[in-house]
Formats: sequence, C-alpha cells, structure tokens
Amino acid sequence: MLKTPRGTKDILPGEIEKWQFIESKFREITEKYNYKELRTPIFETTEVFSRSIGEETDIVNKEMYTFLDKGGKSMTLRPEMTAALVRSVIQNNLCSQGELQRLWYYGPFFRYERPQKGRFRQFHQFGVECLASEYAESDVEIISLGIDLINSLQFKDYTLIINSLGNRESRQVYLNHLVEYFNDNKGSLSETSQIRLEKNPLRILDSKSEDDIKVNQNAPFIDDYFDNESNEHFDEVKSMLDYLNIDYRLDRRLVRGLDYYSHTVFEFQSNVLGAQDSFGGGGRYNSLFEQLGGKPTPAIGFAMGVERLLLILEQINNNEQKSCLDVYIVNAGIDNRNEIMKLADKLRKNYSVVFDLKRKNIKAQFKEANKLNCKYTVVLGQQEIENNELSIKNMENGNQVKLSLSSEIDLDDINWE
Ligand code: HAM
Repeated sequence: MLKTPRGTKDILPGEIEKWQFIESKFREITEKYNYKELRTPIFETTEVFSRSIGEETDIVNKEMYTFLDKGGKSMTLRPEMTAALVRSVIQNNLCSQGELQRLWYYGPFFRYERPQKGRFRQFHQFGVECLASEYAESDVEIISLGIDLINSLQFKDYTLIINSLGNRESRQVYLNHLVEYFNDNKGSLSETSQIRLEKNPLRILDSKSEDDIKVNQNAPFIDDYFDNESNEHFDEVKSMLDYLNIDYRLDRRLVRGLDYYSHTVFEFQSNVLGAQDSFGGGGRYNSLFEQLGGKPTPAIGFAMGVERLLLILEQINNNEQKSCLDVYIVNAGIDNRNEIMKLADKLRKNYSVVFDLKRKNIKAQFKEANKLNCKYTVVLGQQEIENNELSIKNMENGNQVKLSLSSEIDLDDINWE
C-alpha cells in the first residue's frame, strides 16, 4: 500500500474541523491587531535560508529539504517563514522607506527531523512579524498577540519564557568569553558539543546532555556582557510586560535555535507536550534585513506550531468541534428524484442541506440524518407532493410541523411548541 512519507500525515474530515477552528482564531486575532496575511512560495532558493538561519544551525546543517531543480539551481522547501518573508518584503519594497508592516502567515513547513510526538517533517506554523519598529512596544505587541491567541483557544497551562541576547556587539563580546570558558572545560563537554564549540558555541547552552548541563551551570551569562542599549531595550520590554500583568519566566540561558536573533527572544512552553515542550517561539531580528541584502530594518515576530497546539487542545479536551448540518431531506418513496434535488436547491439558499445518494430506505435515511447531527429532517413523499406540503421534524425535540411546499421555507421561524 502506498503511504504518506515518514513524519507527514493526512488530515482527514473529522480532524480538519479542529484545524479550521484554530485557523479561524488566527484570522480573528490578527484582524484585531491589524496584521495582514502574506503568502510566499513553498520553496525558495537555498541561499534565503542558509544566509539567514545560520550555516551552523541544526536546521541548515542537517534538516533542510534541499534539491537541485532541472536547471541545476539549489532550491529548499521552506523550513521556516521569517527568512522567506523578509526576502519577500525586500523584493517587493514593502519597507523600503521604513514603513511599518504588520504581517502574518500560516502554512506548511519542512524539516528533516527524527519524528516523535509533536515533531514532524511536514508541520504547520502560524506566525506574525512586526517590521520596522525597534521599540519595545512592538516586542510587547507581538507577545500580547501570542497570548491573546492562546487565550482564544482557551488553555491556561502554559509558560512564557523570555530572555535577551543583546545587540550584535555585546553578543560578540559574550561569545568570546563563552568560547574561552568552554575551551577551558572542553574535556567535560559531550562529543557533539566539542564540535559545536568550533562552529556554533551558543547552541551548547541548549544541549540536553547530562555532561553539557553540568558545564553549562557555570558558564558566563549573556546579560553580564550587555552594553547600555541592550540593557535599556530589555528593561523596557520587561517593565511593559509587568505593567500589563503579563506573566513570564526569565530564563537567562534561552538562546533559540536560529542565528538571526538579537535582543528579545521568547518561547511559549507547555508541560503537556513532553520533550517537545515548546509550541511557539520567536524574537527580535534586527540584522536579518541586511543579511538578506535589504536596508537595516528592525523587526520582531514569532511562530507557533499548529500540530503542537492541537496536541495541547486534545489533552485538555475542550476541542469538541461537532459538525452540524441544517437539513436532511428524507425521500419517503417518491419516484421522481428531481423533486428532491429541486427542494435541496431551494433550501440551500439559506441552509446546509444533504440527501441520500445511496437510495436507502426511510429508516436508514433517518439514521444517517442522526449520524450527521442534522437539526431538521424534511420528509418528502408522494403524498406530500400531492398535498403541496412538507413534513419537517425538529431532531432535537422530535416535534413535527407541516409547511407549504411551494412557499418560502423559513425553518428558524417555526413555532415548535
Ligand atoms: P522555531 O522555534 O524553529 O522558530 O519554530 C516555531 C514553532 O514551530 C515551534 O515552537 C514548534 O511549535 C513548531 N515546530 C518547529 N519544528 C517543528 C517540527 N519539526 N514539527 C512540529 N512543529 C515544529 C521559527 O521557525 C521562527 N521562524 C519563529 C520566528 C518568527 N522568529 C521570529 N519570527
């Protein structure tokens, strides 16, 4: 049997309603904040990602779906959106005069990772990016939008974790000290981290290996090397969050897995997710525009993983999205099936309508109407046609009324008493 590739899945009717529920919340919340949707191609030239996410990150190093197209050009299925979005904004001059842009996106992304609970090779992200403001208000707007989205999905059991990586200059000073510290303790680091030390020392701080965790305990903290600008920005963000009563946990070791960040970084975590406990993450990326050939443009954003949101909603069980139809037309023995289709047509002007396509008996049709959770059944038989009437049954209370077949049918106006 042909199957979906490992780490991917079909989303079938029955499950898709949960996706649509979450998607409707994306639209609802982004509208409240006046964010506009931006769509880009599913694949980009490989450079878009290698120049932005960082050559030595896990994503670029081993997780990208990269291929040569028939013209011999290297292409990559997008592993994330921020780089692709910035590419698009530069190409289409959306910020060329420093215009503020509030943008959002939703769609599939691809990373060749080892599949496990909450980790897929094709997954879906919803994300927002606020471009061309360097001020703390935009950091807080982005975080607030994330929290409003979580609230709209009605789960409370999550933690917002924040940190700052400072500006480029203070980060470089810090990196020098960090490398010095790790070199002094190289023998105690895991093998992977010894390699990382050469290429991307910041990633060692994220390691889950017991050996590395011990070494990390005494590693220097990034904020000890902050200059005034780095301190001021982060202090302002924290004080605004405090003022708005937004709860957060400061994690001085949070670095995130992509290289483009500076200043504020944050994650949304939930302990119902297990090892992959982060269901959203983001941060500020003030140098990314220049890295991709654009004008300096400060920016901040985040992305949430839809599969992980669904896992959380499943755990807390409040995601019952029972589909509901208005009308099931029961054919009570009329030979001219055109009459059924004509009635369906008429009713569809105002209602959702189905009828039997398997030529089942009346009992089986009522059973199907029940299964489909229809609000009303409309019975049409030879006698009804002759009398120019319809028999309508309210499936909730079992009551029945008769209406004229030829006049307007307003199901919401019926007195069922
Ligand atoms: P990220 O942390 O790599 O950040 O991904 C964001 C979210 O995507 C994660 O928190 C997770 O929920 C989901 N995710 C990532 N990989 C997988 C996977 N293999 N399977 C399932 N879900 C996954 C970014 O992608 C940044 N572009 C976020 C950002 C936006 N930063 C600034 N703006």
